[in-house]
Amino acid sequence: MIFSLLTPPSAHEVHVWQWDLDDCSGEFDRYWEILSTQERERADKFRFERHRRRFVAGRGELRRLLSRYLGLTPKEVALDYGSDGKPFCTIQPPECNICFNLSHSESAAALAISNGFEVGIDVEKVRPIEEGMPLEVFSVQERAQFTALPDRERQEVFFESWARKEACLKALGTGFILPPTHFEFDLSIRGDTTPRFVGGEAEEARHWRICALSSSPTSTSSCAGAVAARRTDWSIVEMN
Ligand SMILES: CC(C)(COP(=O)(O)OP(=O)(O)OC[C@H]1O[C@@H](n2cnc3c(N)ncnc32)[C@H](O)[C@@H]1OP(=O)(O)O)[C@@H](O)C(=O)NCCC(=O)NCCS
Repeated sequence: MIFSLLTPPSAHEVHVWQWDLDDCSGEFDRYWEILSTQERERADKFRFERHRRRFVAGRGELRRLLSRYLGLTPKEVALDYGSDGKPFCTIQPPECNICFNLSHSESAAALAISNGFEVGIDVEKVRPIEEGMPLEVFSVQERAQFTALPDRERQEVFFESWARKEACLKALGTGFILPPTHFEFDLSIRGDTTPRFVGGEAEEARHWRICALSSSPTSTSSCAGAVAARRTDWSIVEMN
């Protein structure tokens, strides 16, 4: 089955879709049908049924949405993986280079779709900060800014910063093979921003743009989210 086609993003847009993985449980059998053998094997390795169902709802909806951009059936969507595990589409329509990135945190899922440039997305449920986490995530300068914040602001700033850093590392395709300190931010800037340094370089940082994601309309608890790309002339189009 082919769902209605979607117009790919322009060179200045990133389409963002958000959904709740637990709301899709009625679709489980239909999602399962469209997964690849490899995806089904991965699903079956989850210890807890809830996590297995969420993985299936994430990959199933990913396939459905990609199929509408690519003009294929969801099952025909062909995925391969970069050396550090970033998935990409191997079959593209002519003149198109659909890039995507998926993120989930508990039941929240978000998908970024771009055309012609790599993109990264991260959503994080805002939750208590574990002891020692800021030390691992922040550079010396960021840590100084973080510890100077009033207690009431720390949790939100922490997860906003984390989402920015992880979105950037996912745009690169390395994930946490690089340390979170590879991207350094000015923590006093909330919302859309540019890193201060990338790998210690201010010049490289000027090529990046990070946009804050507004919480999903279906989300029942607070989420921090960010979309990142190594170019500056784009903005988010919220698709739902
Ligand atoms: C990429 C990474 C940050 C994602 O962490 P996470 O907590 O699962 O975060 P998210 O929910 O935001 O992202 C998951 C999605 O990111 C995508 N993804 C996986 N690896 C990725 C990478 N290297 N770069 C960008 N995106 C990636 C996948 O679509 C994945 O969805 P899936 O679970 O359906 O496969 C983490 O897996 C990581 O640091 N990996 C490092 C690379 C690595 O260990 N590779 C080993 C496999 S070769």
